[in-house]
Formats: sequence, C-alpha cells, structure tokens
Amino acid sequence: MVVPALFKLEPKESLDELYNFEEEIKMLRLVYETGRVAAVLGLRRTGKSSLVKSFLNSFNVPHIYIDVRRAAVAAGRVTARGFAAELGRALTDLLRREDSLKGKLIRALGSISGVSVSLPTLSVSLSWGRGRADLAALLEAVNRAAEEAGRRVALAIDEVQELRWLGVGVAKLLAYIYDNLPNIVVIVTGSEVGLVHDVLRLGDPESPLYGRAVVEIKMKRLTREQALDFLRRGFSEAGMRPPERELEEAVDLLDGIIGWLTYYGWARSSGIGSLEEIADTAARQEAAELEKLLVKSRAEARYRAILKAAALRPMRWAEIKRAVEAQEGAEIDDKNFTELIRHLVKMGILEKTGEHYAIADPIVRRAVEKYLR
Ligand SMILES: Nc1ncnc2c1ncn2[C@@H]1O[C@H](COP(=O)(O)OP(=O)(O)OP(=O)(O)O)[C@@H](O)[C@H]1O
Ligand SMILES: [Mg+2]
Repeated sequence: MVVPALFKLEPKESLDELYNFEEEIKMLRLVYETGRVAAVLGLRRTGKSSLVKSFLNSFNVPHIYIDVRRAAVAAGRVTARGFAAELGRALTDLLRREDSLKGKLIRALGSISGVSVSLPTLSVSLSWGRGRADLAALLEAVNRAAEEAGRRVALAIDEVQELRWLGVGVAKLLAYIYDNLPNIVVIVTGSEVGLVHDVLRLGDPESPLYGRAVVEIKMKRLTREQALDFLRRGFSEAGMRPPERELEEAVDLLDGIIGWLTYYGWARSSGIGSLEEIADTAARQEAAELEKLLVKSRAEARYRAILKAAALRPMRWAEIKRAVEAQEGAEIDDKNFTELIRHLVKMGILEKTGEHYAIADPIVRRAVEKYLR
C-alpha cells in the first residue's frame, strides 16, 4: 500500500504537500516581508504547524523554529531546561541550513555567555541553570547577524501559550523584538486560542504589545466541497476509490478538520479499518488525552459533567448548569460555573456560537460521549 503524500501524518513541510491555504500563505508572506508579528490561531489539527513550516521552507526563510510542545515532552510542562534544549536545536538547524548567516552567526553567538557553538559539528547548546544565556542578548546576536547578511530571520514559536509555564513575559519579549530587533520577524501559533490571547495580552491596553501590529491568521476548517476534494485527491494518489457515500459520511463526521481528514485518509489507505473504526480509535486517543488533563484539575468531576452535557447537543449556559446540578444534586455558584465554562472555551475544547456551547471537535465529542468516564 502506498500512503499518498497528502495523507502523510506529520505536519507538511512544503507548499507541494500543502492542500489549500493560499490566502494564509500570502498573509504570512506579507508579514515576513513588511510586518513584524503574526499569530496563527486555530483549533487543534487545523494545520497551523503545516502552514508555518511549509511557508518557511518553501520561501527559503531563514528561521528558528521552536516547538514548545516538544520542549515539554520530558516533564509534561515546558521547563527552562527543555526550552534551552529546544532553542539550541533550533539554532543548530539555522546554522546548518543558512550559509549566508553561518560565519556571522557563529561570531555573534560566540560572544554570549551561556551559549556554546561546537565548530566541528556546527551545533549550538545553551546552558539552562545559573549562568543561563540571556534570551534578549541571544536574539540581539541573531538580529545582528541577520542585519549583516541583509536578511530577515523568522522566529517561529509553535504553541506559544505553553510558554506561560516558564514565567517568561512573552508579550514583553515580543514587544522588545518589535521595538529593537528589526531583522527578526515573529510567527507564533496556538491551538488554545484564549490562552494565546492571555499570553500575548492582545487587546489589553496595559500590554507591552499594545499598539503594535500583530496580524492574526485564523485557521479555517475546510468547506464540505474542499473536504471531499481533499479526500478524493488523496485516495486517487493511492489508486483507490472508496464509495462516494463513504466520503460524504467521513466529511459529515470529521467536520472539515484537515488533521482528522488526513488521519482518516491515512488509516483507510493503509487498510486499517472502516470509517467507524477509525473514528473510534481516534476518539479513544482523545479520551486518554482528556483524562490526563482532567485528573490534574480540582474541578475534575464538574468538568466531566459539563463535557458530558455539551456532548449531547449545543446547549445554553443555563441548560448545562442545570444538567450538572442535576448530576451533583446541589446548586452551583454562578461565578464558579462561569469560570469553568470560560476555561474550557479558552482551551478550545468548548466553542461558543451565539448563545450555545458545543464541543468544538467532532472526535473529541465522540470521545466524551463514548469513552470519557
Ligand atoms: N494544508 C494541508 N494539506 C495537507 N495536509 C495537512 C494540511 N494541513 C494539515 N495537514 C495534516 O493535518 C494534520 C494536522 O496538521 P498540523 O499538525 O499542521 O496541524 P496543527 O494545527 O499544527 O495541529 P496541532 O494543534 O495538533 O499542533 C497532519 O497530519 C498534517 O499532515
Ligand atoms: Mg501544530
């Protein structure tokens, strides 16, 4: 079985592999050439990382790509050590890829304490404990090298909201770059859109970033037609033609989320199972993720009850509250309840449309219905 390139599970890395999103690419390009900060925002699996990676690679943009989630793998949450390792890796990549910057970057980085560059292997490592490299100084060095080379370097921070655990003032750092490092363009992404807004403090007059142009790029789901076209193309690459009715069902179920369409296409073309089985496998994984998140919370039982209610159908605040109260057999304080709902919206788990709250992702909805305890 050949798995078509379109259904490759990893984030796409070039425009050749990328379906759609021409508008979003254009916007990134505009920010890179004439702007300073872009924020790519959207639910999980809507193609943020693919968009940014494909843009950076296909337009030969010198870049530092930091995946904050990867920096968090070892400890669950990002730590100074994890972040230093990830940043070191990203700088190593930049050094190895960009001949035009190499010599200048080695010189500039070499002068910063806490940073060491190994010349034979061209790898950068950062210390994270006492004597750790100062992030501003490091970025100044990158800016200097970029300026000398007459280039702009993109600093891409994937899942920027995760940096909140580090206690770095992200808004302040970006404002500093904005004001002082004209050869660095920042691209951040985030799935937990509300938390990104908190971290960047967009729209807050007290925020260091206030008044500085941050271009928001909102990832959209594919339309029904696009989703069908995406699946047909992928399957035809694999020399397959699943019945049109199955494709329609898949699109109904997966709701234009490109990551789920890709997963379904990948699994189906690898012969892994039927649409229902594939959706169930995905839902079980999502349920396990949710469980991990929920057990960390003091309001675990209440969150479960809220999710169970919202999985039934889109509901108003008061309806969900009544359902949860019925389950608990006691009245719940309005303010406390509003906080919980707001937090679920910030994390992108619940979505508010008009007066109604619903679970944003159809597979997460299935996970809650079928597999959440
Ligand atoms: N434009 C696209 N064309 C083809 N496949 C895509 C496209 N965008 C995303 N995908 C696929 O969808 C899945 C999710 O993509 P990606 O990881 O880029 O999304 P994301 O929004 O960064 O997700 P997450 O929130 O989980 O980090 C991957 O399997 C990827 O290959
Ligand atoms: Mg991503």
